[in-house]
Amino acid sequence: MFPTFSTNQISLLRGSFVFLIPKLETVTGQLYARMFEAYPAVRAFFADDLTEQQDKLVDTLAALLDSIENREGAEKALRELGKRHVEFGATTELYQWLMVELTELIRVGIEGANLPNLVETIGLWKELIEGACQEMMIGAESQSTTS
Ligand code: HEM
Repeated sequence: MFPTFSTNQISLLRGSFVFLIPKLETVTGQLYARMFEAYPAVRAFFADDLTEQQDKLVDTLAALLDSIENREGAEKALRELGKRHVEFGATTELYQWLMVELTELIRVGIEGANLPNLVETIGLWKELIEGACQEMMIGAESQSTTS
């Protein structure tokens, strides 16, 4: 289930995202580079130029933070996104991999910031990413059982 965050937790997430924005191009670049190294077969699902793809991931993170109070809406959007990802080669194994890697890259991205409650904030990012991937996997599951 997509997590419910308190007002204070949402402030921590949004505050750290502001710090993360200038680093996101690097973060997403590293994420895809690592993904293709670990799972070379996945590369064929993506366009040659990854710039747009990186932007989509960043936009999705921004949209998640924007609509974080609306849990039902977030769940619905993520399940739909997960359904579309079945044909994008996103397997459960890849989601499991991505949850760990993306959380780690975000941790590295924000740890240099002089943020209050850094450890808590990293934990919140982990929850957010895991919650989002879990909803996408639920969507993927419903897609493969209904088609
Ligand atoms: C689990 C591993 C994942 C794989 C292998 C994967 C792969 C892909 C591929 C191949 C595309 C289509 C690219 C194209 O048309 O050129 C795509 C699109 C997209 N991906 Fe992923 N993805 C993964 C996880 C995620 C996650 C966790 C998110 C966001 C939380 C995400 C957000 C998007 C978005 C927003 C698009 C744009 C297309 C759409 O809205 O349907 N992806 N992905």
